[in-house]
This record gives sequence, C-alpha cells and structure tokens, in this order.
Amino acid sequence: MAVLSILEFPDPRLRTKAAAVDPARVTQPEFQRLLDDMFETMYECPGIGLAASQVDVHQRFMVIDVSEEKNQPMVFINPEILARDGEQVYQEGCLSVPGIFADVTRANAITVKAVGRDGQPFELSTDGLLAVCIQHEMDHLEGKLFVDYLSPLKREMVRKKLAKQRRQSA
Ligand code: NI
Repeated sequence: MAVLSILEFPDPRLRTKAAAVDPARVTQPEFQRLLDDMFETMYECPGIGLAASQVDVHQRFMVIDVSEEKNQPMVFINPEILARDGEQVYQEGCLSVPGIFADVTRANAITVKAVGRDGQPFELSTDGLLAVCIQHEMDHLEGKLFVDYLSPLKREMVRKKLAKQRRQSA
C-alpha cells in the first residue's frame, strides 16, 4: 500500500467533475489497490473521508470511516442520493483544505445508493456525521469544496491562510 498525495485548495484539479466508474472494473486488482491506498492515505492524515478527486483520480468514488476505532471502512462507488430529510449544521474540515474548519448546513438524513468494493450495489439510510461525510465527499466528485459554502470574503481568507501555511512549511 502507499500514501497518496492530496491536492490542496485552490488547486484547479479539485474542480474537475468526476466520471462514472465502470462497475466491471471494481473487483479488478488495480482498482482494489487504489481503494487500499486511499484508505491508507485517509487513516494516515488522519481523516474520516477521502474522495478520489482529492488524489487526482477523477472518477466517482470515495472511502469513508467515521468510527472512533477506525475499523469500519466504507466504499461508495457511483454514489447517488435518493432521499434527503431535515437539516444539520456541522463544523467541517477537509484534507484538501488543511487546518480550516467551518460550519456547513446539510441534510440531516439521507438515503444513498452506491456500488460497494465487492462490485455489488447497495442502499444505505443514515444520518448525523456519516450523512455529513457522504454529502461532503460527493461534493468533491462534482468539483465542489466545503469552502464554497462560505462567503467570498471568508473563502479568500482561507486561500491566504493556506498560502501562508505553505510558505512557512516550505
Ligand atoms: Ni473534503
């Protein structure tokens, strides 16, 4: 396995709209290895979700593990939200926007349909943090970041803060 490098805001590649995955590819070793690498990258950071877009793979899939023990890996390939209900505000962060956290309003409960790492379709109804995480990662597949929900002024502050962080660590 390998830790992959993560694209950071405002890298324009993060704005790419991801293409659907051919479900026949899912069980192939090359795709399975990519999933393993994405989990390793996410756990290493550490984060609770990682979309393929963030590692410069512009295909519709993501890995998630919101458990405390980091023992509940979930894979969503070609995810689609079938239903949304209610609202919740959660202070989100993102591995592509390191060190920045901000409140975002999203649906409280969702039903999502996707293909799993076994290549089989499944449906999941969930709420709370997992629902937030699924919606956040699905935004990445559309080329959207959580900072897009902030005002243009706040987003500009985030951009400057990240540029300063990068200068200091260079
Ligand atoms: Ni993110």
